[in-house]
Amino acid sequence: MKQWNRERRLRTRSEQGTMALGEMLAEMLPAPMLVVLRGELGMGKTTLVRGMAAALGADMGEVTSPTFTLVHEYAGRRTRLIHLDLYRLEEERELESIGLWEMADATDALVMVEWGDRFASVMERADAEVQISQGENENERLLLVRW
Ligand SMILES: Nc1ncnc2c1ncn2[C@@H]1O[C@H](COP(=O)(O)OP(=O)(O)OP(=O)(O)O)[C@@H](O)[C@H]1O
Ligand SMILES: [Mg+2]
Repeated sequence: MKQWNRERRLRTRSEQGTMALGEMLAEMLPAPMLVVLRGELGMGKTTLVRGMAAALGADMGEVTSPTFTLVHEYAGRRTRLIHLDLYRLEEERELESIGLWEMADATDALVMVEWGDRFASVMERADAEVQISQGENENERLLLVRW
């Protein structure tokens, strides 16, 4: 298991609240970084990335789930926001062909990886993780950020 040095717990009660936390996260986790987004289907991983896009000066309206394309990239003012969804990736060795390691090496990129925890090599390489889980109420989400 990865050893993290710092952790922070956050709570949100709406989709807008999750976007606002995404804006905050973009400041807490500056590029270059590879961040694994953990949490069940529909927990708000993509919503969080939408907030991060806004904070980085990218068009948040463009942020959609890279479910089929695996990778989307958004141009921020200084940072490239790279958003991956590995839910449908089958083989660990395919990470190389989609260019994940080059993205992780780029000095100007914040790489957000949904379902990165499916692959040991991604967890190994991760600089941070954000775990989103269901709160007590329908729209409530609990975030555990570790880095
Ligand atoms: N507090 C909340 N934060 C984020 N989304 C919420 C919240 N409450 C309800 N929702 C709803 O949950 C859904 C979150 O969808 P989103 O695509 O962000 O999830 P995801 O974790 O990326 O899912 P997937 O694993 O399928 O990619 C949206 O439909 C949104 O309206
Ligand atoms: Mg998603």
